[in-house]
Amino acid sequence: MRILVIGSGAREHALLRGLARDPQVRELHIAPGNAGTHDLATAHSLTIADPAAVTALAVSLEVDLVVIGPEIPLVAGAVDALRSAGIPAFGPTAAAAAIEGSKAFAKDVMAAAGVPTGRAVSLAADVPAEAVDRALEEFGAPYVVKDDGLAAGKGVVVTIDRAVAAAHAHDVLAAGHPALVEEYLAGPEVSLFAVCDGSRCVPLIPAQDFKRVGDGDTGPNTGGMGAYAPLPWIADDLVETVQRDVLDPVLAEMGRRGTPFAGLLYAGLVITDEGPKVIEFNCRFGDPETQVVLELLDSPLAQLLYSSAIGELGTAALQWKLGSAVTVVIAAENYPGTPTSGDEITGVTAPAEDAVVLHAGTARDSGGRLVSAGGRVLSATAHGPDLATARAAAYRIAESISLRGSHFRRDIAMAAEQGKVQGTVQGATHTPR
Ligand code: AMP
Ligand code: GLY
Repeated sequence: MRILVIGSGAREHALLRGLARDPQVRELHIAPGNAGTHDLATAHSLTIADPAAVTALAVSLEVDLVVIGPEIPLVAGAVDALRSAGIPAFGPTAAAAAIEGSKAFAKDVMAAAGVPTGRAVSLAADVPAEAVDRALEEFGAPYVVKDDGLAAGKGVVVTIDRAVAAAHAHDVLAAGHPALVEEYLAGPEVSLFAVCDGSRCVPLIPAQDFKRVGDGDTGPNTGGMGAYAPLPWIADDLVETVQRDVLDPVLAEMGRRGTPFAGLLYAGLVITDEGPKVIEFNCRFGDPETQVVLELLDSPLAQLLYSSAIGELGTAALQWKLGSAVTVVIAAENYPGTPTSGDEITGVTAPAEDAVVLHAGTARDSGGRLVSAGGRVLSATAHGPDLATARAAAYRIAESISLRGSHFRRDIAMAAEQGKVQGTVQGATHTPR
């Protein structure tokens, strides 16, 4: 198979690493990629938000499959354009990608499908100011206020400070976007990915992401600062429960609406006292969870994504490696604010079977030096026989890397290693963005 991957993050680097292990893969291409992906794939420049440009590149390369990493090309209709040109593409159509692109749409699908989720009200951009107060009053503290559009995980404020919640709602509305005020869901978070083909889905193993920038879940939200899998603290039947109560009903509802979901359905869950509830759906692989989930996948990845793209997902169970994987995200100075870039990175070790530094915001400068070029710069990823070993290995790699002003969380997977995740109430002390 000849495959083109679209995107430039550590998620896409992990996808390439996974695809390269599949014996069916003969040739890999990436657009636009980063300084690390070039070892595995031929790089092409591309405006990824332009479906016609994505299609033109795929046609010119005569690829058998296009794998789309980020949500932006999906929401823009890249898969629709590729399919019209007869090219199999992994990902949902624009209409199905609305499950991530519009939180109000996702809530509507969940209501119709009877999926457990928090209560929410959507406020239109022209709503009177009192409506914001009424909504905050109705749900009480902690307050959850979201920008109803793509915000790279950063349009959400969770706070016990009502004035801060109200200010965020007014900011979102003033920008002309609808705002969503939601019931706060208490409990540990789980990211569950499922590969779907429009009518069926195969869940991958659950992972946990760390969204806040600081240790102990403090500071502003980010795209994700680290992840680990599998989760030793979840109920044995969690995946089965979520497939029955969330994934299958959502697929059925999307089909009923004439917008069947194919590609990666990412369920962001909170494990509440009443069971798992959905906080959001994404229409693509999560970053950084993909870095750990794919590190553990033992089934051929290209085959899996291709069968989703052509609507013929098999029923065979996926194979997983034993042990655990941990990834620690190394972020540039000032991330998640405006990050500094162009600083030299040293100490990046060569990839090995059980350890890899996955690149995200990296580039080569004119002198060929590896330099930072984005907020999340690298994902130090390791696989080990148990969580403690994988965690120690990921931190050894992270600590060996030098990048002026960079930072990473020290507590990725720490509570799980110590058996302390169960009962944790994340977020009650969340500070706003
Ligand atoms: P989202 O962009 O919807 O994934 O939200 C980003 C983060 O905000 C989530 O990963 C949670 O940590 C937090 N969050 C969002 N919605 C809720 C909610 N209803 N209850 C508690 N925390 C939430
Ligand atoms: N890790 C969160 C996301 O990919 O949205």
